[in-house]
Amino acid sequence: MALILGIESSCDETSVAIVENGERVISEKTASQINIHALYGGVVPEIASRYHLEKISILTKMVFEEAKMDPKKISAVAVTYGPGLVGPLLVGISYAKALSFALKVPLIGVNHMIGHLNAVFLFDKNIDFPCVVLMISGAHTEIVYMKSMNDFEILGKSIDDAAGEAFDKVARMLNLPYPGGPQIDGISKNGNFIYKFTKPKTAGKYDFSFSGLKTHIRYFLKDNPEVKAEDVAASFQETLSSILIEKVVEAAKEYGVKDIIVAGGVAANSAVRRKTEEAARQNELSFHFPPLKYCTDNASMIAAAGWHDYKSGKFADLDLNAVPDLEV
Ligand code: KG4
Ligand code: ZN
Repeated sequence: MALILGIESSCDETSVAIVENGERVISEKTASQINIHALYGGVVPEIASRYHLEKISILTKMVFEEAKMDPKKISAVAVTYGPGLVGPLLVGISYAKALSFALKVPLIGVNHMIGHLNAVFLFDKNIDFPCVVLMISGAHTEIVYMKSMNDFEILGKSIDDAAGEAFDKVARMLNLPYPGGPQIDGISKNGNFIYKFTKPKTAGKYDFSFSGLKTHIRYFLKDNPEVKAEDVAASFQETLSSILIEKVVEAAKEYGVKDIIVAGGVAANSAVRRKTEEAARQNELSFHFPPLKYCTDNASMIAAAGWHDYKSGKFADLDLNAVPDLEV
């Protein structure tokens, strides 16, 4: 049995968790900084680093208390080392190194995006390889062909804004607070899909581009100041989510797979989830999402990802550094 302590601090959530064998969350504590950054309309890296530093050891203590576990029982410490904000990443990495050194257990460096993927595998055992992944977060939008747990091929990605970033930027145009994704999702429920915004074209079949859509909405709002924010939000959300789902379904068909994983913060979006239900029925596909709580950043997914490296003995040295632009 392996007990992995996961640490996540790449952006605006400080999170610590203990996960057994990559499949059972024993304890997790997360401190969100959303309310602090909302005052500035986005994440302020320096404030984020300070807040992580303030919270990380108390959360670790709470996690061991809740698990009623002696820290010496831990098999390894897994920490996000990228992609993310350099200062916030370094807080988690330095803390993880100190713990691994003090407890004399291996250190594991985890790619945050592989963490998001593991938020699905942690709870869902009915996924067959090969499968296709739609990774949709605040900084990434990718379609990945996954041959096995360690063998990936990126089929396409956003050539400009990530899906979550587009949500956050359009929310700002509608004077909604940060983070915009959940806000747009919320007000869309009282709006109607009545505006047809252009679906941007891309050279690569599985690439995405959201900056044209965003600009279209900016000019539309300038020219039509009387429109209801709820209708604009609903129309934007329907357009963006249909682009995402159409492309990932096409990729699944071309590559002959039936399982599609949707991971990252935008996987929480209600229109994305609804459209996958329609697509699953029409195309005999099976979509796999993390539970809502695990769509956004958390340390359980990092511990679950770290478990795979633990099994194959892939450990990091104490010179592990932050890699802010780490690729999948
Ligand atoms: O994966 P995540 O927590 O952090 C990154 O790794 O980037 O994703 C955060 C992003 C933000 O852009 C946020 O607005 C978006 O996910 N998001 C949503 C929803 N919940 C979070 N976007 C649309 N609808 C939601 N319900
Ligand atoms: Zn994330």
